[in-house]
Amino acid sequence: MFNIILFGPPGSGKGTQSKLLIEKYGLVHLSTGDLLRSEIAAQTALGLEAKALMDKGQLVPDEVVVGMISSVLDAKPNAKGFLFDGFPRTETQSEALDNLLKLKKSEIGVVLALDVNEEELIKRLINRALTSGRSDDANPEVQKKRQEVYKRETLPVAAYYNKFNKVVHVKGEGTVEEIFSALCSEIEKRLS
Ligand code: AP5
Ligand code: MG
Repeated sequence: MFNIILFGPPGSGKGTQSKLLIEKYGLVHLSTGDLLRSEIAAQTALGLEAKALMDKGQLVPDEVVVGMISSVLDAKPNAKGFLFDGFPRTETQSEALDNLLKLKKSEIGVVLALDVNEEELIKRLINRALTSGRSDDANPEVQKKRQEVYKRETLPVAAYYNKFNKVVHVKGEGTVEEIFSALCSEIEKRLS
């Protein structure tokens, strides 16, 4: 099993690149943001609780997202590997993920970190707000809050995996194709 974390701030292209990567490498895509939005659409209790936090740009509690990830890992015992997008987002989530993978005699192969400057991130999110229907895109204050939360709570995830020499930085600016090809070349170094 080869597992990848696609890491980066809101708007860095995680979702865009995930679609291409799962196709090419036959991985299972695990986006906690997408899972939470499905819960909201289905109007579950979990979805309602999550929506209130997501609309403010705050993180959903660790135990909620870890529970969702754990269910999907259990439901896909024959996966070739998982591509984690938007997860883990705190150091606690990172430790929980490592423990869950250890139970499956597996681990994170690489953390691919997309580097994009903040001006470009905001530009992309303002643009996406026109079509995404995401309430956390529509409000510039919430967009700013998400970048702040990323710096404060999520950057420590990179530091955590850096201790195990698993983090590789990839330039997240340029065309979608250029970035995809840079990500693929990092993955292939580790697959061979
Ligand atoms: P989540 O859904 O994970 O959103 P996010 O991290 O804020 O990231 P985005 O989805 O906004 O950006 P992206 O990196 O996927 O970029 P994309 O490819 O779309 O989380 C939402 C909320 O859910 C959180 O705030 C939190 O409340 C909650 N949550 C989720 N996971 C959680 C967790 N683990 N723990 C706790 N809470 C959690 O690209 C952005 C735009 O740019 C698009 O329009 C795209 O077309 C465009 N674009 C992409 N690539 C390029 C390029 N190369 N050039 C120009 N434009 C580009
Ligand atoms: Mg996304």
